[in-house]
Amino acid sequence: MTQAPVNVTVTGAAGQIGYALLFRIASGQLLGQDVPVKLRLLEIPQAVKAAEGTAMELDDGAFPLLAGIDIFDDPKQAFEGTNIALLVGARPRSKGMERGDLLEANGGIFKPQGEAINAGAASDIKVLVVGNPANTNALIAQSHAPDVPADRFTAMTRLDHNRALAQLSKKLGVPVTELKKLAIWGNHSATQYPSVQHAEVGGKPVEVDQAWLESDFIPTVAKRGAAIIEARGLSSAASAASAAIDHVYTWVNGTPEGDWTSAGVVSDGSYGVAEGIISSFPVTAKDGKYEIVQGLEIDDFSRARIDASVAELVEERDTVQKLGLI
Ligand code: NAD
Ligand code: LMR
Repeated sequence: MTQAPVNVTVTGAAGQIGYALLFRIASGQLLGQDVPVKLRLLEIPQAVKAAEGTAMELDDGAFPLLAGIDIFDDPKQAFEGTNIALLVGARPRSKGMERGDLLEANGGIFKPQGEAINAGAASDIKVLVVGNPANTNALIAQSHAPDVPADRFTAMTRLDHNRALAQLSKKLGVPVTELKKLAIWGNHSATQYPSVQHAEVGGKPVEVDQAWLESDFIPTVAKRGAAIIEARGLSSAASAASAAIDHVYTWVNGTPEGDWTSAGVVSDGSYGVAEGIISSFPVTAKDGKYEIVQGLEIDDFSRARIDASVAELVEERDTVQKLGLI
């Protein structure tokens, strides 16, 4: 091994996504087969023992690229010197909890984590927020890390992107590798807009009938999280972990020429999306940076759907602002 290990912090390490994610990171799928990693696991005190159990299993994997595992219940220590932070742990919605309550409970998690990243993370820190509500949790963390460039904070909509690829691939009867330029716009929620407006199959524009788009494709992708919960009795975990791996791998290694992906990134006002919120856009990655794809024509159908999801994000931002969380 020639390279120094990259420090990767994973929060919610004892949870179900953590269990699917950590072994893939250790095997080199997050950063590449030549990059050693040191894992820094953050859990709440009650779940540290379970995280220790997962760490024992990671040891038992004898992964050649795994250079060490440390477990913490203090964010300040967990983010010290970290290069990649995967913020998975979040407060789930419990019975009777309103959206505002959920945002407030998560503020108690993502504010101190943002502060800890600001105080101690490495200068090249990249943050992916997976824990829901992912976009606004990312906004909370980002707003408490004033010394970190805002574009280092991202939220995961890669799972939605992958779901859209899978649905379109089935519909057209082509492998996912034939499909390019799908996009997820807006929030990681049921208001998201999975768009095929610029999508290509085998280099040609995708042509599907509007009725299928409206009554099948868009709701299937947007409500897939709920459908998984209904079927499994638990929220998606392996597919979410897989998408987190894809998101970071692409961020570090770039998107292929002639294609893009989707990620929740800080809006610079592009496409009329309120500046400063963390919204999903079509993005390319180059030299370790995600950039919003510019210059796309947005038809009326897309416009209305993007606006609706962005309105929800603005509402979430206003709620956390009122709660003093940003
Ligand atoms: P889980 O309940 O199995 O695990 C969550 C873990 O987070 C628990 O072990 C818990 O102890 C830990 N945790 C809670 N507060 C913490 C804190 N302050 N610091 C560190 N750890 C903390 O949940 P899961 O299935 O792994 O899902 C995690 C989150 O990811 C949920 O919010 C879920 O809704 C979300 N999710 C997002 C996407 C997406 O596409 N963005 C997809 C699937 C799931
Ligand atoms: C998903 O998209 O699978 C999850 O965000 C669903 C959830 O509510 O945890």
